[in-house]
Amino acid sequence: MSDPPIILGIESSCDETAAALVRGGREVLSHVVASQIELHARFGGVVPEIASRAHIEAINSVVAAALEQSGVAPAEVAAVAVTHEPGLIGSLLVGLMAAKTLAWAWSVPPIGVNHVYAHAYAAALDAGPIDYPAVALICSGGHTALYRCGGPTDLTLLGATIDDAAGEAFDKVASILRLGYPGGPAIDRIAREGDGEALRFPRTLLAGASLDFSFSGVKTAVLYHVNGLPGSSQPRRARRRPGAALKRLAAMPSAGRGVEHLSRQEVADVAASFQAAVVDVLRIKLRRAARQTGARTLVLGGGVAANRALRAAAEALARELRCTLRLPELRFCLDNAAMVAGLACHYLAAGRTDDLSLAANATVRR
Ligand code: KG4
Ligand code: ZN
Repeated sequence: MSDPPIILGIESSCDETAAALVRGGREVLSHVVASQIELHARFGGVVPEIASRAHIEAINSVVAAALEQSGVAPAEVAAVAVTHEPGLIGSLLVGLMAAKTLAWAWSVPPIGVNHVYAHAYAAALDAGPIDYPAVALICSGGHTALYRCGGPTDLTLLGATIDDAAGEAFDKVASILRLGYPGGPAIDRIAREGDGEALRFPRTLLAGASLDFSFSGVKTAVLYHVNGLPGSSQPRRARRRPGAALKRLAAMPSAGRGVEHLSRQEVADVAASFQAAVVDVLRIKLRRAARQTGARTLVLGGGVAANRALRAAAEALARELRCTLRLPELRFCLDNAAMVAGLACHYLAAGRTDDLSLAANATVRR
C-alpha cells in the first residue's frame, strides 16, 4: 500500500492568510494562520483592498512556516490545494497565484477547493472520518447554509441565507453594542453574563418547510431596542400583553440615544437574547434538514460553530434525534488551510485535480 498523500493547503479567501500540511486527509502536520483582524478592526469589517495587500505581504512566510513546522520536504508533497471560491476576488487571487506557482515549481497538480465545502469537512481534521450521509450546517461571517453531504465532495445545497450570514449578524450586533470586531467571540463572551430570556427577539423561520435563513430582522430588532424605539423585541414577561410591552419601549426616556444608556448587565442581556434567537433558528433549521433528509450525522462548520451556545444546542439536538454530532475543534472552525488540504485529499483520490488554468470565483451558489 502506498503512503497516504501529503497535501499543502492554502487559504486566503477573506482576512486570514493560512497554510497547512495534512497527511491522508485528516492528520494535520502543521497549521499556520496569519490573521488580519487588527488591520480591519477600526473599520468594523473587512476592507477588501487592505485584505489583498496583507495577503501578499504574508503569503510567503505563512507557507514557509507551515512547511517548516511540518518537517515535510517539498518533494514529499503530492498536490497543492487552494481555496479558489467563493470569497473576495483580490484575496482569492493571492492564494491561487501562490498555489499555482508552487504546483508548477514542484511538478504536482493544483486542486481548487470550495471554501464552504472545506468548512463542512473541518470536523474530520485530527479526528475520525465523518459517517455519511450527513447534514452540514455552515455558519460563518460570509455564509450560512445547510447541505446534504453524500460524501466529503458530494454536497447538495438545501438552504442558505437570503440576507445576512449568521456571523455577519453577530458582527453587526456587536457593533451596535460597541463590543468591537469581530463581534462573534465578543457576544459569545458577554452573553455568558446575560439572560437569554430577558428579551424576545424575532426568530425568522420563513415558510413552513423552508431551509433558508434570514437574520436581518433580528439585527434590526436589536438596533431598535438599543435605540429605545418600538420594534420587534419585547421584554419576555410582557409577551402575554404585547401592546403594553411596545408602549413601554416607546416611552423609554432614552429613545434614540444608542447603547450608552444601557448598563453592562443590560448589554449582556441584549447580547444573550440576540444569541438565543440566532441559535434557536439555526437549531430549528438543522432539525428540519435532518428530518427531511433522514441523515444520521450532523456536522457543524464555520466561525459561528465556535459559539458556545450553538455547540450546546447542537449537542442537545443530536441527543434528541439520536444522531452523531461532528463539531470541529475550535481552531478548525475559523478560516484555516488544514480544512482545504484535508478535503483536497478526497479530490486527489478521485483523480479530480486541476491545472494551471484554475480560476478564482468570487460567488458560487450551488
Ligand atoms: O469562518 P470564518 O472565520 O470566516 C468566514 O468564512 O466568514 O467566520 C468568521 C465569523 C465572524 O463573523 C465571527 O464574528 C464569527 O465567525 N465567530 C463567531 C464566534 N467566533 C467567530 N460567532 C459567534 N460566536 C463565536 N464564538
Ligand atoms: Zn470561512
